[in-house]
Amino acid sequence: MNKTILITGGAGFIGSHVVRNFVTKYPDYHIVNLDALTYAGNLENLRDIEEKPHYTFVKADITDALDMFRVFEQYKPDGVIHLAAESHVDRSIADPTAFVMTNVIGTVNLLNAARQIWKDDFIGKRFHHVSTDEVFGALGAEGLFTEETSYDPHSPYSASKASSDHFVRAYHDTYGLPIVLTNCSNNYGPNHFPEKLIPLCIHNILNSQPLPIYGDGKYTRDWLFVIDHATAIDLVFHEGKNGESYNVGGFNEWQNIDLVKELCKQVDEKLGRPAGTAEQLITFVKDRPGHDLRYAIDASKINKELGWYPSVTFEEGLSKTIDWFLNNKEWLESVTSGDYQKYYDKQYKD
Ligand code: NAD
Ligand code: DAU
Repeated sequence: MNKTILITGGAGFIGSHVVRNFVTKYPDYHIVNLDALTYAGNLENLRDIEEKPHYTFVKADITDALDMFRVFEQYKPDGVIHLAAESHVDRSIADPTAFVMTNVIGTVNLLNAARQIWKDDFIGKRFHHVSTDEVFGALGAEGLFTEETSYDPHSPYSASKASSDHFVRAYHDTYGLPIVLTNCSNNYGPNHFPEKLIPLCIHNILNSQPLPIYGDGKYTRDWLFVIDHATAIDLVFHEGKNGESYNVGGFNEWQNIDLVKELCKQVDEKLGRPAGTAEQLITFVKDRPGHDLRYAIDASKINKELGWYPSVTFEEGLSKTIDWFLNNKEWLESVTSGDYQKYYDKQYKD
């Protein structure tokens, strides 16, 4: 093994794709996946690779500073790819403190553990912080977020991610910690937890439940297939410039209402049902407080400097995603039983 890479949050949606990519592509690396297995973490996401000899899973909570020192001491990672987070905006509106704990304190705990174990000898070391475009705030009808856009977070989730980004840069500027950041737009794909718009709508179509659209449905997001995000993380981790950040996006903006109609169309086709069947479930509901109007990413830096570009069109990615959910109904049922129902009722029925 020539390197040990610690990936946090590797049992979650994006993390599981990052872990699979690294385990498959780098047999010489020891991949250590550290995850607390919250409601969003699921080892079912990694069944196909869990027996690989160069893969280790560690159940641990990044809010526990002492445990982070212990894990870093035990595995002595050369690189860290940090994805563990509370990731859902609506949950952050209901309970901001959990987001401060994991996203801010948890990130600082990892930075401290990395500093301690690397002892200011940073050759061959790297801390990659995975972040979001939501730190830049909201766009009007025009314009794109670049790496130079000022931070202007609005939700408790984006405020916590902005804070964590600042801490990562502060450890670089103050202690010389080698870091890179990626700020990515909305992901979609296999294993997406059905609290987020696309998997929630797929789940509800399959169960003939309303498709809840916040406000007028004209909010706009830039969607990226999760495997393309995993590829971008791989590239930036290995080839990104020390201290720099890279925006990652799909060049693919959709208003929520148009996206949900496209999803309905594809699901109807795949199920062999008359066009318009799923669309009848669309229901406009109370808006999200502080809802950001539009996110859109200028991904030209990662494109020009590292040659990254999304590998699939949105129609292809969405089709692959729907196929995955249709072929993995047990996964969907298992993650929507129990506590999910309580969350759903509180969010959509209270
Ligand atoms: P997710 O909610 O699906 O997964 C988060 C993972 O982190 C889970 O496995 C969970 O168990 C783990 N985790 C949570 N709290 C933890 C703690 N205290 N200690 C250890 N593990 C903990 O999230 P995701 O959508 O896969 O997002 C991953 C990262 O990417 C996050 O940092 C998020 O901010 C960022 N991001 C997400 C998107 C997106 O569209 N989902 C876009 C850009 C950036
Ligand atoms: O932009 C990157 C971010 O994308 C990530 O940092 C976050 O972790 C991720 O959750 C995602 O945030 P969003 O809030 O944009 O994703 P979500 O799927 O929750 O919502 C997408 C859009 O759909 C948003 O405008 C809100 C709207 N929406 C969402 C839900 C859950 C609805 O209209 N109805 C819904 O039920």
